[in-house]
Amino acid sequence: MAVDILIGLQWGDEGKGKIVDVLAPTYDIVARFQGGPNAGHTLEFEGTKHVLHQIPSGIFHPHIKNIIGNGVVLDPIVFRLEMQKLQDRGVDAAQNLYISKKASLILPSHKALDRVSEEALGSGKIGSTLKGIGPTYQDKIGRVGLRVGDILANDFQENYDKLVARHRKTIEFYGRELELGKQEDEFFEAIAYLRTLKLVDSEYMINDAIQNGQRILAEGAQGSLLDVDFGTYPFVTSSSTVVAGACTGLGVAPKHIGEVYGIFKAYCTRVGSGPFPTELLDEVGESIRQAGREFGSTTGRPRRCGWIDLPSLKYSIMLNGVTQLNMMKADILTEFDTIQVCTHYKLVSGEVTDRVPHSLEDGEVEPIYETLPGWKVDLNKIETTEELPEAFINYLQFLEKHLHVPITIVSVGPDRKSTMKRE
Ligand code: GTP
Repeated sequence: MAVDILIGLQWGDEGKGKIVDVLAPTYDIVARFQGGPNAGHTLEFEGTKHVLHQIPSGIFHPHIKNIIGNGVVLDPIVFRLEMQKLQDRGVDAAQNLYISKKASLILPSHKALDRVSEEALGSGKIGSTLKGIGPTYQDKIGRVGLRVGDILANDFQENYDKLVARHRKTIEFYGRELELGKQEDEFFEAIAYLRTLKLVDSEYMINDAIQNGQRILAEGAQGSLLDVDFGTYPFVTSSSTVVAGACTGLGVAPKHIGEVYGIFKAYCTRVGSGPFPTELLDEVGESIRQAGREFGSTTGRPRRCGWIDLPSLKYSIMLNGVTQLNMMKADILTEFDTIQVCTHYKLVSGEVTDRVPHSLEDGEVEPIYETLPGWKVDLNKIETTEELPEAFINYLQFLEKHLHVPITIVSVGPDRKSTMKRE
């Protein structure tokens, strides 16, 4: 099969960027299929940390073609800065980057709309990253949005003005005024830059590659529990973060899909509002946050932390047809004498289940834990699977027994090198 897909199984920030970077050398193409600048994929190698927002994580390998697919919402201003940063580090991303003409454009007014609508929700706010993602997807589905290919037409300015006028009216409806300041100049400068790049019909590019026997890795952003259909709605992102999103977000038929890598942390985190059954609001949660440096790479916001949640992982595995699991950040749990694993939920009715109920709101489910011994060994110092402590192997086997999918990669540190493959 030609297209493998890498997906986050929790609420995002699982470490997808690192694994794409590790797997990338065996692929010809790495493609992003959804999301936008709300992603923050962190890669570390040769002592340097790189954070990518919209550019696929295969960009550091010059032989790999990187595609920003049609399902992505692209902020030209953020994108230009990202390209500049890469250039400053000696990476000429323009030569191996391709952008779908059908990708949606985030306008400065989308970001203003995001702020205004989030403010209007008051205490019920979603916890939006305020990057204009939601309003841009709304315009796409509402069939009024602008796409990358539109910037090549003579009437782009006219269509831009029409859309902004629409946004202005909505913002006035909220009793606010649209003020764009110098963002509009920055936007048009970034559009001029975008015109100089490889803007393509990426669905053809990908399907031609499939026909030619090339290998493609589709790189998910955010996580399955943030999926607009299956996530903890309404506290979700505005795109399909599950495998099906790769089909629509790249133009790939399901029959071409091969391996599905499901990435999860040895524990669990979440940013923003919304249900989180295993959240730890005590010093254990704080220890995980500090040890795992659980602060958003895009927003800097502290992430909520908790124990691993197997019912929700099983749900994500089912939705995505995961064939291989990759466990990240195992090194962060070193300090604990015991580790808790949520295996089931107890519902208000008293029923005990390993299925995710319609609502995960506070009070609706009570996590049921099993306690396993901690390993108390700094995994980051370990180089081969043979050296892994017994208690850690026990943890892996416990998870595999419940999840019914092999854990083929274990990550024990942020660097490319701190990655172990298991047979
Ligand atoms: P989103 O699409 O925004 O959800 O991002 P992501 O899944 O790529 O995750 P992100 O890069 O935001 O977060 C992962 C963080 O953990 C980064 O800072 C990584 O460098 C770091 N990281 C990845 N794997 C490991 C690991 O095994 N151990 C440790 N200690 N850090 C890791």
